[in-house]
Amino acid sequence: KRPVGVPDKSLARKVTKVGIIGAGLMASQLALLFLRRLQVPVVLTDLDQERVDKGVGYVHAEIDKLVAKRRMDEGTAAKLRQLVSGSVDKSVFADADFVIEAVFENLDLKKQIWAEFEKIVKPEAILATNTSSLSITEMAADLEHPERLVGFHFFNPVAVLPLLEIIRGEKTDDATLATAFEVGKTLKKSSVLVKDAPAFVVNRLLTRVTSEIFQAVDAGTPLDVVNVAMDPLGLPMRPIALLQLVGPAVAYHVGETLHAAFPDRYVDSPNLKRIVDSKLPVMVDKEINPEVVALLQVGDA
Ligand code: 3HC
Repeated sequence: KRPVGVPDKSLARKVTKVGIIGAGLMASQLALLFLRRLQVPVVLTDLDQERVDKGVGYVHAEIDKLVAKRRMDEGTAAKLRQLVSGSVDKSVFADADFVIEAVFENLDLKKQIWAEFEKIVKPEAILATNTSSLSITEMAADLEHPERLVGFHFFNPVAVLPLLEIIRGEKTDDATLATAFEVGKTLKKSSVLVKDAPAFVVNRLLTRVTSEIFQAVDAGTPLDVVNVAMDPLGLPMRPIALLQLVGPAVAYHVGETLHAAFPDRYVDSPNLKRIVDSKLPVMVDKEINPEVVALLQVGDA
């Protein structure tokens, strides 16, 4: 049954090539997922060749792991290795019909990227953003064709978590939304249509947890204590391990968006900022990093 607000699938466009903007952790996981499920050419781009090579290298390494675990046969693996490529030359996006962006969580940067890519891709290509928190309507505001931008938000680890938040901006048209839902189905994700509101649905809840946890830290509760405090809820992961998985910088930037929208509900924690600025891993060998603990200060919340 078609969920409320989702246009008929007859409006969906065919996707024969996927372009991925970014080659970081999220972007590389997306490349692997699109490659496995759509089995069409997938091309990655990033600022320099080193990043591009790292992204493509991740995809190759994950394919090798799937073969080793006997979850993929060698024939499929060989085909997929041929289909994935990376380039700093953005013109390789010219014939992509579905372009997804997974770069740093900054509205101006994302707007700048879309302005640039809109000139490269064909007019009917769908533009999807994996933003964790930013407004799709604002991101599309200066585009020549804002109707083809849609929010397409995945969760870490992408290969495991089934949810996909699909976000319709004010100008997103039916063909774009129908294509997004059809692609979501091919990716075997459970797609939900959510409103274009700060951080959509899932990250509002997760960021509220992080915000409360860090208010306790800012007030002086040790990090290892707040980390176990939610065990009674039976969450799949403790909050600091989740912070490491998501990346403190990503969590902080989602928090900034939510703090700006709802200052009473989301606190801008000085200790979380210290962790982000240090660039240190929060977890080392499944333990909280003592160097991170040493950074924390009490009482300036
Ligand atoms: N990549 C691929 N597969 C992974 C993986 C990864 N990074 N991590 C774990 N897996 C796979 C394992 O291979 C295993 O697969 P199998 O059962 O088929 O062998 C399966 O997941 C379970 O892994 P484990 O047995 O090692 O460990 P767990 O049972 O503890 O599961 C977890 C690990 C799936 C990460 C689980 O702890 C979990 O769901 N954690 C919560 C994650 C979460 O809340 N994510 C949302 C973050 S918010 C976000 O991403 C949004 C962004 O905008 C900020």
